[in-house]
Amino acid sequence: MSHDLEIRTPNNERVSFFGLGHVGLVSSACFSYRGFKVVGYDIDRDKILTLRDGNVPIFEPKLEKLVKIGIKRSNLEFTNNSQEAIFKTDITFITVGTPSKQDGSVNLKYIKKAAETIGNALRSKNSYHLVIVKSTVPPGTTENVVKPILEYHSGKDCGEDLGLCFNPEFLREGAAVKDTFHPDRIVIGAIDEKSSNLLEDLFRSFHPRKTPPIFRTNFVNAELIKYASNAFLATKISFINEIANICERTKGADVKVVVEAMKLDKRIGKYFLNAGLGYGGSCFPKDVKALISFSKSLGYYPKIIKAVDRVNEIQPYVAVNMAKSLIGDLSGKKIAILGLSFKPNTDDVRGAVSIKIINKLLEEFAEVVVYDPVAIPKIKEIFENKIKYSSSATECIKNADCTIIVTEWNEFRKLKPDDFLRNMKTAIVIDGRRIYNPKEFIKNGVQFRAIGLSTTFK
Ligand code: UGA
Repeated sequence: MSHDLEIRTPNNERVSFFGLGHVGLVSSACFSYRGFKVVGYDIDRDKILTLRDGNVPIFEPKLEKLVKIGIKRSNLEFTNNSQEAIFKTDITFITVGTPSKQDGSVNLKYIKKAAETIGNALRSKNSYHLVIVKSTVPPGTTENVVKPILEYHSGKDCGEDLGLCFNPEFLREGAAVKDTFHPDRIVIGAIDEKSSNLLEDLFRSFHPRKTPPIFRTNFVNAELIKYASNAFLATKISFINEIANICERTKGADVKVVVEAMKLDKRIGKYFLNAGLGYGGSCFPKDVKALISFSKSLGYYPKIIKAVDRVNEIQPYVAVNMAKSLIGDLSGKKIAILGLSFKPNTDDVRGAVSIKIINKLLEEFAEVVVYDPVAIPKIKEIFENKIKYSSSATECIKNADCTIIVTEWNEFRKLKPDDFLRNMKTAIVIDGRRIYNPKEFIKNGVQFRAIGLSTTFK
């Protein structure tokens, strides 16, 4: 564990997290590691029992270690008793999921339920309690949905007996622990000065050495900051994927080279310009659609954000079209898929590009064989026996007619042209994440195509 994760002495704040998904669990573990007394609450009893044993139900680097340390130091406990979670703490974060409805708008049922549960538990508590919404919610939700539910069920007034904040989360899956200890900024939307001050104090104790910039505003701005940030990052990705699609059709072009020079312009910046098969996960696709839906509800049609979504919807099929152009009819052809999770270092397959690609290949009657270092169990729940599963990359590509790199796990970067030449029926590789050197692959006799690489590249 790195030195910057040393334990700190906070101001004795006791914190609870309602909802132990990615954000709630990582935050619980990190706060307990910093010495806060933390209670993690979830309605899922099995999850609570698993966590009490120090086992973590998600794949997230460093998380299980922190959970075990928190439990051992008696700083971290888990419960499905909401009363206990509220009475043992002074500050409660709502960290439940906000999934999409069919039409792209946000389903607030978990947020409403959490506010109701917290409100009911607070009814018999006499001391001041600060409630913070951390889940991503459409602008207006904290004020118009959470506040009235909390007040109704607790019989108390927000801004007097209760504090209320909206505090968006910016951590990334796969780097969640690191991001929690080193965020770029902290945004606090608050009902009043007292709530804002309390939350700022909490974060100052959590980051005692170097507190990140803290930005204080009202609820709606804080809610919008979260959506605008995710939509902007998604825009960068769809934009560069569009340039990649242009590069493929331009003799001699390579999006990787184009981006290398673009990045040198500080105004453009160097992040989130990796062209690929599109963005996936439980956040970008959902949040982009939610912002479109929110905007439309105001009578404004968001043209750029709509285009970002559209580009991303079809980007995964670029790989399938490349396969078709290289091997013709896909029916009966063995296609190896390397990488299933929506990005490396996670077993999360929600919104994963791999699912769209596999579905399309099955529609074309291809024989699909897949491998991923950790995400196979989750993909098995979706595709069951419709596809074949391998226990290594080399087993997956054995006798394949075509290999598609879908997720850029490090272990795939280590594969050499010779691995494909020796194992595949014909060495045909589609690099959907730009992890290989095209020259090296082509020189060694691999038929090679990559996102953003001119189809005439030699
Ligand atoms: C994203 C944001 O980065 C976090 O700041 C935010 O807190 C989170 O959503 C959320 O709202 O909860 P995450 O979904 O974990 O985090 O993953 P990212 O690392 O942002 O990647 C998202 C997708 O974009 C992945 O499928 C990735 O492969 C793709 N991507 C990313 C690209 O295709 N190109 C890039 O240059 C970067």
